Amino acid sequence: MADDAATPTKNMDDIMALCKRRGFVYQASEIYGGINGFWDYGPLGAQLKKNLRDAWWQDVVMNPCRGIPGPAGKPVRIVPLDSCIVQNPKVWEASGHVGGFNDPMVDCRETKNRYRADHLLCIGKKGDKAGQIYAYVENNDESFDAALKKLSKYVKEDLTKDDTDTCPLTDLSADELAITVGPDTKTVGTLTEPRAFNLMFKTFVGATSAETDDNAAYLRPETAQGIFINFKNVVDTTRVSVPFGIAQTGKAFRNEVTPRNFTFRSREFEQMEIEFFCHEDDAKDWYVFWRDWRMQWWQELGLAGENLILREHDADELAHYAKEGAGTSDVEYRFPFTAPGFGELEGIAHRSNYDLRQHAEHSGAKLEYFDPTRGELAKNMQPKGERYLPHVIEPSAGLDRGVLAILCEAYTPDPDRASGVYMKFHPRVAPIKAAVFPLVNKDGMPEKAAELHQALVKRFGHLGMIETDPKQSIGKRYARMDEAGCPFCFTIDGDTLTDGTVTVRDRDSAGQERIPMDSAVDFLADRLGL
Ligand code: GAP
Repeated sequence: MADDAATPTKNMDDIMALCKRRGFVYQASEIYGGINGFWDYGPLGAQLKKNLRDAWWQDVVMNPCRGIPGPAGKPVRIVPLDSCIVQNPKVWEASGHVGGFNDPMVDCRETKNRYRADHLLCIGKKGDKAGQIYAYVENNDESFDAALKKLSKYVKEDLTKDDTDTCPLTDLSADELAITVGPDTKTVGTLTEPRAFNLMFKTFVGATSAETDDNAAYLRPETAQGIFINFKNVVDTTRVSVPFGIAQTGKAFRNEVTPRNFTFRSREFEQMEIEFFCHEDDAKDWYVFWRDWRMQWWQELGLAGENLILREHDADELAHYAKEGAGTSDVEYRFPFTAPGFGELEGIAHRSNYDLRQHAEHSGAKLEYFDPTRGELAKNMQPKGERYLPHVIEPSAGLDRGVLAILCEAYTPDPDRASGVYMKFHPRVAPIKAAVFPLVNKDGMPEKAAELHQALVKRFGHLGMIETDPKQSIGKRYARMDEAGCPFCFTIDGDTLTDGTVTVRDRDSAGQERIPMDSAVDFLADRLGL
């Protein structure tokens, strides 16, 4: 937990309002009343998301780890993949998702609300639990205070925090649940017992009228399994050798019981996953390498400082596939809605050879890898080779959570500006890279602006938008660009026509300088770090 002084003062409602106002994120199906857990990205959001995905692709696939060598001093090798969202359902049986990808869920019979049981806490009067239990949603002060008030009313006593005990809802017996008050109810005993709820979306494949188990399929809940089932294909059809990684980005779907906190927990989201295959003996070193590099990567995109932490998991938090004693850690960001706590952006896990083993067993395919560089030495002093199922280090990041963290980090209130706020995006992810404005929409200025705009689009158009806008006062146009997080605005004025110079306004300092118009392309390239 961070201390209060470091707690961000940013307000999530303000950030969400800006996202809507400026076209970063819209509620999906908004004109039909929305659909819970789904979000659409507007023009600025779509470009921001693409820039983050592209940065990952560039630094993971095209130029792995930006040339930083792996633990043995050799270059890191990664190849890309693009696997299907719908696979043979046996994939999800083998991976454990059909049997085990469940959240415990409770329903409220009165309000029809549904909660994740592990998100509900119960408070009861100390030492006198029976008959005096009250459940409330989420472990936060607001809910606790509301629950305390309700419990006081229920037991007809003015209770303080010190008079109460808490326990997870999942610890209560059926008898005790019958005397539990739901978070939004007045009546006692409206919560059902927790029951397992599979998070996978089911669908049916083919033009058949019958929806049976024979034609059932699932939307993938993670992109990772598409990589494991193609491991042999990649080894057989390329020249990779272990250690190497396979990377892919793509949509994943989870029917989350309680989607919440804007895009943080959505039902449709995008992942950026690497499955890095190595020999068991090297797995620890690769785990440390990936853990540290992934943290560094997020820092270099502007999520530096106290809002970003690397947290090693405790033994009791490990997922079923994680190797005992090996590492699992999360890169976590302090979102306004988690503060002073943190929320997961990316998990780095040593998955052992669990997935390859499961798929080998369930499919019957031979997924072992023959490594000619290992094994005992033969008479000629060359290794005889070793056959093994590689171990896997998995850095698995959420693209939408990355975008959300970047939006929260960039949001910078500034009462001295016309906009009252600006978005301090790292230039690499900023959706608009630059804007070109004619000071007034006449006297040859629009033509000059069009000329510079074209030159910038030609050079930087593949990286993001180059905006141009002749309308409104220049102050209002700067304010719009501040809210959009555009790092540089070039303005064509009367002097441009006589001495060929333009002003450049810097988003963060709001300061202006004059440069020759024909050096604007080089100026921007330099500031974007190209
Ligand atoms: N293959 C491993 C895996 O899927 P995970 O921790 O369940 O691990 C990886 O997911 C990342 O995907 C998380 O760190 C998070 O950033 C993102 N993620 C998971 N569930 C999400 C959801 N419901 N909404 C948005 N992002 C989610």
